[in-house]
Amino acid sequence: MSSSQPPNIERILFSEEQIRQRIQEVAGEISDKYRERGVKLIGVLKGSVFFLTALAREISAPVKIDFLAISSFSNSMGTPGLVRIAKDLDEGIQGEDVLLVEDIVDTGFTSRYLLQTLAGREPNSLAICTLLDRTPRRIVQVPVEFRCFEIPDRFVIGFGLDHKQLYRNLGYIAVLKP
Ligand code: IMP
Ligand code: MG
Repeated sequence: MSSSQPPNIERILFSEEQIRQRIQEVAGEISDKYRERGVKLIGVLKGSVFFLTALAREISAPVKIDFLAISSFSNSMGTPGLVRIAKDLDEGIQGEDVLLVEDIVDTGFTSRYLLQTLAGREPNSLAICTLLDRTPRRIVQVPVEFRCFEIPDRFVIGFGLDHKQLYRNLGYIAVLKP
């Protein structure tokens, strides 16, 4: 159990227990879909690490894991949503059933880029599983097959999500004070 709550938290959106229960439900859906062929979970560093490990432990189908890291930037024109791979996967994914595991799908730029990049490596199947989905801010459409929670348009922290690299280790998900 984590100690006292940081002072700059406005309210808790999802408790540890709510997150645990919801991950169990989604892991059940994933286990059903990939029961025969197994699934490779691909985590996007660093935000999705906490979610990926919790999810993986609840999946009853065969599971492999791999990670990649990205960095976001804007070009000289100030175009937002540009992404590049800063650390690639350790292994290829050709012929595998791949689930891209995200902490949050917000504008959709990151997920769309990753889906396009991974699709080029010829997996047998490719889908997205996200802890949080903030559809009001979506700019580019991406297919989200599994989601734990929809959230409102507020900045959130905890369970992997950071503000200036802090708060990832909180067991709950909370709204940060503006
Ligand atoms: P997208 O490309 O706009 O969908 O942004 C996805 C990335 O932005 C996530 O992987 C997070 O790293 C970051 N992000 C977006 N919203 C939040 C938030 O509320 N808290 C923490 N990080 C966020
Ligand atoms: Mg971040």
